[in-house]
Amino acid sequence: MKKIAVFTSGGDSPGMNACVRAVVRTAIFKGLEVYGIYRGYEGMIDGDIKRLQSHSVSNIVQRGGTILKSARSMEFKTPEGRKQAYDNLKAHGIEGLVAIGGDGTFTGAKVFFEEFGIPTIGCPGTIDNDLYGTDYTIGFDTAVNTALEAIDKIRDTAAAHDRIFFIEVMGRDAGFIAIESGIGGGAEFVMVPETKTNLDDVVKSLKNNRKNRFSSIVVVAEGDEAGNAQTVMEIVKNKVNDPSKDFKVTTLGHIQRGGNPTARDRVLASRCGMSAVEGLIAGHQFHMAGVVNQEVVFTPFADCIGKTKPLIEDHLKLMKILSI
Ligand code: F6P
Repeated sequence: MKKIAVFTSGGDSPGMNACVRAVVRTAIFKGLEVYGIYRGYEGMIDGDIKRLQSHSVSNIVQRGGTILKSARSMEFKTPEGRKQAYDNLKAHGIEGLVAIGGDGTFTGAKVFFEEFGIPTIGCPGTIDNDLYGTDYTIGFDTAVNTALEAIDKIRDTAAAHDRIFFIEVMGRDAGFIAIESGIGGGAEFVMVPETKTNLDDVVKSLKNNRKNRFSSIVVVAEGDEAGNAQTVMEIVKNKVNDPSKDFKVTTLGHIQRGGNPTARDRVLASRCGMSAVEGLIAGHQFHMAGVVNQEVVFTPFADCIGKTKPLIEDHLKLMKILSI
């Protein structure tokens, strides 16, 4: 293998740049030519591919977003789009790929590999932490800390006005951000898609008249089956049926996707990026490089996207106990 390419795809996450940097520098260190594909699969189809040097990735380790840009490509879902992408890679002589992204990115990579057989190693880049085959994903730690900072600030004003806040965090299918920011932020209740929420339990928790408790925080993952924060707040407010209680909703949204990556995310990203290149050289064909119990582990894409990573049981228990 002489030439490889790296791209970022799907929702960006803080630490993607550190990962790109590690891929580029490891490839050069190992004597490979390395190319950047811009705008993910869209750029692969459009031929938006450029040679990268060591200096191309200077001064990016600390930056959120992705210098390679990202996109969610509809065209790559068509056989014609994928053929065009393959022709562009072939024209550049690219023999291996590093795909940085989440389950959508790896689903695309799986189809592409099955059709054209270009060895591809994934790096887990998503704030959602919902990938099997790695304890943490790149960007999760930063996103949780961003959410936590917001929760701390909301708590100040919630306490000042004796209000009940429903705070919506990201997580379409997974509650990792919700549960960790809920524990860290001392929330009264956390709602996650993985477990069925009984709204009467939320009401019960808000009616808990612990001495000096006048304000409350409920963290809602955007994908909770009971609805988003606004919907859930309205139902709970009706159930509480106490005009003296003041309910508010804050949706944190894309603020969770930006910002300088934490040290943990930078190190994880760098490690995964280096391992992805080493994996390609060692002959791994179709795996994600993740970190499990401190060790780099290569997991087949099919497992990463096919198996569900469960929430940590203890975290659910902690929420229950610490909010009494
Ligand atoms: O997958 C990462 C994520 O941030 C999810 O948590 C969120 O539901 C989604 O992306 C938002 O996607 P978009 O930025 O395309 O609206």
